[in-house]
Amino acid sequence: MKITVVGTGYVGLVTGTCLAETGNEVICVDIDAEKVSKMQNGVVPIYEPHLDVLFERNIKADRLKFTTSLDEGLVFGEIIFLALPTPEDEDGSADLSYVLNVSEEIGKKIQSYKVIVDKSTVPVGTAEKVHAVIAANASCDFDVVSNPEFLREGFAVDDFLKPERIIIGSSSDKATKLMQRLYSPFVRSGNPIIVMDEKSAELTKYAANSFLATKITFMNEIANYCEKVGADVDKVRAGMGSDSRIGKRFLFPGIGYGGSCFPKDVKALRKAGKDKDYDFKILESVIKVNDAQKTVLLPKIEAYLGNNLTGKKIAVWGLAFKPETDDIREAPSIYMMKALLEKGAELTVFDPEAMPNIKKSFGNTLTYADSMYGATEGADALLICTEWSIFRTPNFQKLKGLLNQPAIFDGRNLYNTEDLQAEGFTYISIGRKEIN
Ligand code: UDX
Repeated sequence: MKITVVGTGYVGLVTGTCLAETGNEVICVDIDAEKVSKMQNGVVPIYEPHLDVLFERNIKADRLKFTTSLDEGLVFGEIIFLALPTPEDEDGSADLSYVLNVSEEIGKKIQSYKVIVDKSTVPVGTAEKVHAVIAANASCDFDVVSNPEFLREGFAVDDFLKPERIIIGSSSDKATKLMQRLYSPFVRSGNPIIVMDEKSAELTKYAANSFLATKITFMNEIANYCEKVGADVDKVRAGMGSDSRIGKRFLFPGIGYGGSCFPKDVKALRKAGKDKDYDFKILESVIKVNDAQKTVLLPKIEAYLGNNLTGKKIAVWGLAFKPETDDIREAPSIYMMKALLEKGAELTVFDPEAMPNIKKSFGNTLTYADSMYGATEGADALLICTEWSIFRTPNFQKLKGLLNQPAIFDGRNLYNTEDLQAEGFTYISIGRKEIN
């Protein structure tokens, strides 16, 4: 099939590349000429495991192409994916201007039947709006389909190639059949393609992400309460998670969720509710609790360092919002670092991938270490914000030798409390016994 993907951000790029991998001819459109020229030369503009291999293979096979010309893209594909940004407005609602502007162009340019697919996370009713904008300009037949993505950063290629489910919101049999054909190679294992109306598909995405954010947040509150009563959240989690109605995943407490999806989607759903006079009280609380959770370790660090952080040296491991990505959007590390800097602390930081992005916003207010151990030299405490694998089994004796004081504040519960006690550390994590 011939596919056009408009927008080569994270979602568009993964979608385009993975669709080329199953033999489709794909053209990706982006207005950023520099980015397009880099991609034409085989450079993947984001860090995402396995994407580079697929990217190179499909460019070589001439199945994956890039252009700055929307016109070219709109003539090419019989299916046109919209993978455009829907940034958060000041009030938390999603800004649809990119999606609607491109829709207008689509209406003016298309000459033959096309299926327009909303891949971006968009509020309920967007497919209807896109349809209306195209219809006002179009002279040929077309359909608009909602097809939300459920890609996790760091696992996006795998999630695309082996999805647990595919959601298609469509009220046209013709468009539904085309989409089912397009996705059939990805669901050979029997996972479902669930077809529903466009509005339900749009809401499914918000509901899924808001539910997951709520699940994490609930666990963070349980963890905070564990600390008050001397219970151990790891044990509570294991006990709860083995009930299949609850499930083991997304029950890991920490210093809050971040990223480009959860924070934005939870806020957008709350705002969308307000617009319809519906007050999502749960989401209101989730946002509040998560905001507070990001700095839950701050008073503990302060207490340990004598309630005065001026001139205190703190090492920070992990800056990305989660492992296996260089993405720092809404990363809890940012909130912690800002709070620590405000209190006068000096921070030396290390992350395997996210340092360039952090440098762009923090500049020389931070010291950037070349290695995880380098960051800890002479530090009064180590703070862990992201659970990269390389932080999981450090040489504790070496660490002890490097740190000024053997103290670890662990926002991701990486270590076994007893082990750290035996190694002679002060170890403070989330929802577990404190070792002082
Ligand atoms: C998420 C959804 O999982 C994906 O389906 C969606 O389409 C896009 O948003 P992503 O943002 O890449 O994906 O990350 P995810 O792995 O879901 O983690 C989100 C945040 O939750 C991270 O900050 C992570 O650290 C945090 N988290 C996750 C926890 O704090 N505890 C957990 O148990 C799981």
